[in-house]
Amino acid sequence: MSLKVGVVGGGQLARMMIAPAVELGIEIEVLAEQESMSASLAATQVGDYHDAEVVLSFARDVDVITFDHEHVPQDVLSALVDAGVAVHPGPAALGIAQDKLVMRARLAELGMPQPDWAAVSGTSELQEFLDAHGGRAVVKTPRGGYDGKGVRVISAATEAEDWFAALAEDARGGALLVEELVDFSRELAQQVARRPSGEIAVYPVVETVQREGVCAEVIAPAPHASDRLSSVAGEIGRAIAEGLGVTGMLAVELFETTDERLLINELAMRPHNSGHWSQDGAVTGQFEQHLRAVLDLPLGDTSARAGWSMMVNILGGPRRDSLESRFAAVMTEHPAAKIHTYGKEPRPGRKVGHVTVSGDDLDDVAYQARAAASHFED
Ligand SMILES: Nc1ncnc2c1ncn2[C@@H]1O[C@H](COP(=O)(O)OP(=O)(O)OP(=O)(O)O)[C@@H](O)[C@H]1O
Ligand SMILES: [Mg+2]
Repeated sequence: MSLKVGVVGGGQLARMMIAPAVELGIEIEVLAEQESMSASLAATQVGDYHDAEVVLSFARDVDVITFDHEHVPQDVLSALVDAGVAVHPGPAALGIAQDKLVMRARLAELGMPQPDWAAVSGTSELQEFLDAHGGRAVVKTPRGGYDGKGVRVISAATEAEDWFAALAEDARGGALLVEELVDFSRELAQQVARRPSGEIAVYPVVETVQREGVCAEVIAPAPHASDRLSSVAGEIGRAIAEGLGVTGMLAVELFETTDERLLINELAMRPHNSGHWSQDGAVTGQFEQHLRAVLDLPLGDTSARAGWSMMVNILGGPRRDSLESRFAAVMTEHPAAKIHTYGKEPRPGRKVGHVTVSGDDLDDVAYQARAAASHFED
């Protein structure tokens, strides 16, 4: 018997599924959007994931279809399910991750802790929300945002006029999401994995640091997290995975408020940047875990291998030369650093790789990880 996973999308998340697939002896095929993408070394097909014909032909001989991103349209997902293809996460769960308004509404039904929010379809509704929330709020486009694109802190409703205008042009119409501006002390993320047959594995809760809306670094586990905080975060992850029927990896982005409450920011139903530390810092990394989960195999141990792990993103990369040209220096100075590169062209602000360091002294781990990552940036 051989097992074959098909991944829709050729980005770095698909790329990082390749190594554990090879280790386990699982076949992995990627449907890439273009030639020479991050996961091109496993790309068996290049094509448009919006096209049901393309995705169906890609899925013909795999055991399960999974994803590098959440953007595959619902009609394509249903076509796969109708054709008898196993799809994990499934269309219903993915539909919730695809639209932040749908997500807020479903999390409310599940009784999950969230910031105050509303769906607003024009500037007067938005202004009402602002007036009720101290004059500042966060507006978000419900679909297609990433790395802080589609997120704006505003203090006047007119600051979202361009987004309302774009909505008016959009055939699907709809509304914008507005949320209270959460006074958080820090951001956390909770990873869990869930198999179709129900088993769930919960990772240690981690701290994430965002700069200009982009994840910059992750500390695992979250420093000075009380047992109560860790168990509440784990329970939130478990309840969402079960309540929404998520299969594969789920990341729950959380705000920890100054009065020690946890509020849900957003969900990702796939391996996520906040879980990259687990590749080197946990017994079972999130990419291996995702493969196990979508194939409905028993889940691996999620414990940390060391007291601390720190993951630092390489943002932008070197301007004049390549990441590889920095290898010798980084490897000489930081032999404990685990270096991951995504095969992407350096460009300002772009995530082109990350570095993880694990150990028992957090100060040293943080110093090594940051210094190693900064060697790759100009
Ligand atoms: N309601 C809020 N209150 C305060 N800060 C917020 C709020 N919503 C978002 N932010 C800040 O903006 C960042 C990006 O928001 P969000 O995660 O919704 O956007 P995204 O572009 O979908 O992110 P990602 O890069 O995770 O895909 C958050 O990590 C947080 O720092
Ligand atoms: Mg986010």
